[in-house]
Amino acid sequence: MTFHPDTLPDLKGKVFIVTGGNSGIGYYTVAHLAEHGAHVYLCARSAEKGTAAIANIEKMHPSANIDLLQMDLTDLASVVAAAEHFLARETALHGLVNNAGIMATPFAMTKDGHEAQWQTNYLAHWVLTAHLLPLMLRTAKTLPPGSVRVVNLTSSGHLGAPRGGINFADPSLKDGSPWSRYGQSKLANILHAKTLHATYGPGSPSARSGEGEIWVASVHPGLVETNLATSAEESGSRVTSVFSVLRMLGLMWPADKGSWTSLFCAASPDMKAEQSGAYFDIFRRFAEPSWQSGAAKDGELAKRLEEWTGELMRREGWVR
Ligand SMILES: NC(=O)c1ccc[n+]([C@@H]2O[C@H](COP(=O)([O-])OP(=O)(O)OC[C@H]3O[C@@H](n4cnc5c(N)ncnc54)[C@H](OP(=O)(O)O)[C@@H]3O)[C@@H](O)[C@H]2O)c1
Repeated sequence: MTFHPDTLPDLKGKVFIVTGGNSGIGYYTVAHLAEHGAHVYLCARSAEKGTAAIANIEKMHPSANIDLLQMDLTDLASVVAAAEHFLARETALHGLVNNAGIMATPFAMTKDGHEAQWQTNYLAHWVLTAHLLPLMLRTAKTLPPGSVRVVNLTSSGHLGAPRGGINFADPSLKDGSPWSRYGQSKLANILHAKTLHATYGPGSPSARSGEGEIWVASVHPGLVETNLATSAEESGSRVTSVFSVLRMLGLMWPADKGSWTSLFCAASPDMKAEQSGAYFDIFRRFAEPSWQSGAAKDGELAKRLEEWTGELMRREGWVR
């Protein structure tokens, strides 16, 4: 892929939401969208960090139109409240970038009763997406195909998911490793994108019946120098040594470049309908083999995960 964010079109009049927008890949995703005229909602759990990030971007691009949308993905009530706040203010949503994440953190349960990586990386983004889908479909209905998109950040780390992909009996994986918990959550991001594509993508029943077409992608951004590695390092994960070696070999990309694949999938006119539903990895290094086999391309697993998640989130009252 030879995409560069400078090739993005004028995005004036378009509205985007980017989770984890105060740092790393998400920060540059917000910055480039805003630079091209989009109205961007930058999601952050810390109002202070979110406001500082917006101020920094505005320094670079004084005409940037960015609003803070505060949500803590470990607190599903705050995710629902943020979605409702957004829906009360906006009449269109052109792009949702489910970007925020944590990696290989020690075992912890959220106050909602889910394992922290599973909820932060997957469940909370599933809930956010579910609340925003009706507006995205309404937006898509009146516009040409490809005008509305969802991007799920995943990782080649989905390779670390447990045997069978998702442990439905114990999704907290309390007897697993921090890396297997990360892998399972990142595999779920891919399967979620697959389901969204099957339901709303080109050729889907929704698209054919005129109910709205949404293009979807899952993105492994590459190996990118961000706080993600730092937080894993602080938790004493073995990933630490891997990142140190990659850094020494110059194989880590700067955070700006890490945003480019997300930007291509969220807003580039060069993305093609037949690319919706795909797993994007500009490096073609680590992710390709896993994509060719196993759980990440298992349509039945995607369906089972969707049913399981929908049933659980409805039972807990996070979606209707
Ligand atoms: N960096 C890489 O090499 C790499 C490789 C593969 C995939 N990825 C994926 O890329 C995505 C972005 O990560 P990054 O590398 O840019 O890392 P990052 O710099 O650590 O950014 C992660 C973002 O997620 C936010 N976040 C974490 N927990 C949250 C919570 N409970 N509620 C709300 N926001 C929360 C962080 O907010 P705080 O600042 O408040 O913590 C931060 O804004 C992740 O999904 C990651 O899995 C990254």
